[in-house]
Amino acid sequence: MTSTDSVVEPEAPPPDPQPKIDEVRLTINGREVAAQKGDLVIAAAQRVGDYIPRFCYHERMSSVGMCRMCLVDVDSGRGPGLQPSCMITVAPGMVVNTRSPAALAAQEGIIELLLAQHPLDCPVCDKGGECPLQDQSFSHGPGESRYVEEKRHFEKPIPISDLVLLDRERCILCDRCTRFADEVAGDALIHFSGRGNDTQITTFPDEPFVSYFSGNTVQICPVGALTAKPYRFKARPWDLEQSESTCTTCAVGCRTVVQSSQDELLRYQGVDSDPVNWGWLCDRGRFNFEAVNSDDRLSAPLVRVDDELQPTTWNAALARAAELITEAKAVGGAGSIAVLGGARGSNEDAYAWARLAHDVIGTPHVYPQMGDGAQINLLGFDRATIDEAANASTIILMAPDLKEELPVLYLRLRDAAQKRRSRIIEFVQKRSGLSLHAWKTIEYHAGGITDAVAACSADPDIVRQLATGDVVVVAGRANLAEHPLEVGNGVVAALQLVPDAKVLPALRRGNIVGAIEMGLVPGEGGMSVLGIAKAAASGNVECLVLLGCDPLADFPDTDLARRMMAGAPRIIAIDTFLTKSNASADVVLAAAAYGEKRGTTTNIEGRISTLSAMVTPRGTSRPDWMIATELAELLGGDLGVSSVDDLTDAISANVAGFGAATVAALHSARDGIVCHGTLPPATSRIATIEERNSYDYRLVVSRKLYDNAVGTAKSPSLAHLTTDSELHLHPLDIERVGSTDGADVKVTSKRASMVFKVVADDSVVRGSAWVPFNQPGPSIGELIDSAEVVTDVRVESL
Ligand code: SF4
Ligand code: FES
Repeated sequence: MTSTDSVVEPEAPPPDPQPKIDEVRLTINGREVAAQKGDLVIAAAQRVGDYIPRFCYHERMSSVGMCRMCLVDVDSGRGPGLQPSCMITVAPGMVVNTRSPAALAAQEGIIELLLAQHPLDCPVCDKGGECPLQDQSFSHGPGESRYVEEKRHFEKPIPISDLVLLDRERCILCDRCTRFADEVAGDALIHFSGRGNDTQITTFPDEPFVSYFSGNTVQICPVGALTAKPYRFKARPWDLEQSESTCTTCAVGCRTVVQSSQDELLRYQGVDSDPVNWGWLCDRGRFNFEAVNSDDRLSAPLVRVDDELQPTTWNAALARAAELITEAKAVGGAGSIAVLGGARGSNEDAYAWARLAHDVIGTPHVYPQMGDGAQINLLGFDRATIDEAANASTIILMAPDLKEELPVLYLRLRDAAQKRRSRIIEFVQKRSGLSLHAWKTIEYHAGGITDAVAACSADPDIVRQLATGDVVVVAGRANLAEHPLEVGNGVVAALQLVPDAKVLPALRRGNIVGAIEMGLVPGEGGMSVLGIAKAAASGNVECLVLLGCDPLADFPDTDLARRMMAGAPRIIAIDTFLTKSNASADVVLAAAAYGEKRGTTTNIEGRISTLSAMVTPRGTSRPDWMIATELAELLGGDLGVSSVDDLTDAISANVAGFGAATVAALHSARDGIVCHGTLPPATSRIATIEERNSYDYRLVVSRKLYDNAVGTAKSPSLAHLTTDSELHLHPLDIERVGSTDGADVKVTSKRASMVFKVVADDSVVRGSAWVPFNQPGPSIGELIDSAEVVTDVRVESL
């Protein structure tokens, strides 16, 4: 399927001579064809090459029969009659004629009626050139109209959300956007209002359409009634070049099409990948192309001269980087060099850097996360696919709020619960976007996941439910103020309850799974980021390499991150922007961004899919893998590769479990190829967790979809969607500390004391205090000590 609803007329496959179970034989346009029991006539006809025009029908949503464009002649034994083909299912012996004189007259009539009100402002409409109404007016319309009356007029456009505008006179009332908001996203904040000729799409009074998925409504609108602010008036479809790719904003890996014009990225559209995103994208993934186009991008490498970073040539910058590594090796040995990050690049970038770090530099201290993920061995369990999770009879959720961190996985699991395929048992420190749909929500405090899971064995309802069929554990870091090993503890406890459950790791950052599988992990005796940070803080790291990472923003323990950065005498950064962290580097190597480089990425399931390059890298910036090969050469090594395809094939040849992912195989696998490495599973660790003093609150820190990450901060349409860094307490707990909603409170941990505004929030479990991470305002990381398993805070009214 394509990303838009253009008229597609595939070739008809020959009918199978042997009828199968659930197969229904019917006649469409004079040919006997086979369909599946339950298929809608519109879908069955399309599959055999007979495209029936439509506006309201969408294969990922329920049929509503609103527009009547799909009327065809159907004879189920009582003679032919016009029927909406999106509302009737195939039946044995049915005779369908999509092009009978009656059907054609009906289709022409509907187009004529729709155009009686439609403004026909196609020359200035974003949708012109890719508009189903325009296309079907040509292919199925009458060619002229009998209506001469004046058309409707509305104020245009009206913003219905931060990112979407509505031109009401263009709307054909197909119910696609409203159905999407209601059925798919669960943000039913747009609806029809009025009657008859006054019917229109509106938001509720005083309630804007706040949705993380609003861009999908623009994509599925069959006319140009809904337009996206970041794209409106930017290009015409025939000026766009496009190529399929994979979103790497988070680790769901939604399939997209990347569109550009005149060497600038202009739009991402969702592509329907059945195992992954079903055509949907979240707004962050859809609109953060603006960051790639940002004027703040680094366009040349920088070196520090007289305490200032100054642009230089690649030869000079790479030579300086090699010199810093050689010096560090001479002073402290290879083990005094640490490489952090790599989860924002491609598999090829990660593989090249893993080889450079481990084989050429020779350090074991390599780590892809910033202390904000779960342990890497989460990938070692029997791994579930997204489809397996969304079809399991029970989903055990011990993860961050998926709506905030892995938004399209949230849509898939919401669908599973809504359609009653799966029951969700979730463990929360703060209620999540899925709590509304969960069969059981079990509240616990940080440090208590093992006990909370173990207690399930005493609940006969849960025990019965777990025995009903497949169980998938979706596990990830729910709280950045809790030790990362707690995630593994939770999974181990869940596997004690259900030993044959599969695990879907809810790791967040773009290509974190690829970075781990490609080897950006500690070698023999190597340290994790926590160890590296402590070693650097105490002067034991001679050179720190920041591979597209920003520890000062992302490491939960801000004080340790600061001491790490201050303690490293040499810092080399590879990045697309100057950040808080790399501003103090000695060399910053300008990296090519998403959309500027080809390669592959690996999602949470282990699905490898392709990334395409649609624009040239900014200035002289280069892909990370190229920087690694050049540095390797300067350091006397040779990675033996000279192109991105060489690397893809080297991964397939050398990374255990990735043999199937050759360049040739990936080229023809539209939905990617699932590969798993050979990491052993995480094991449970005994951690001593102090009881919470009943005057204190257990701190919960997690991310919102929009934060200060560069992809959001450098996208003007998204940057203002961040939330404030405020302390959320249950209303009864606010009363308990003698404060009121909106007042300032003093929050004190063993580390520090800060003032936050307190917000009443009954989604926070009583006894816990929640603060969003990396948002404008006071940095909660100042209160977190990563050496502790949990962080307790005293909250006092001021
Ligand atoms: Fe991209 Fe993740 Fe959003 Fe999908 S859910 S569009 S992968 S950020
Ligand atoms: Fe069937 Fe709209 S597509 S009624």
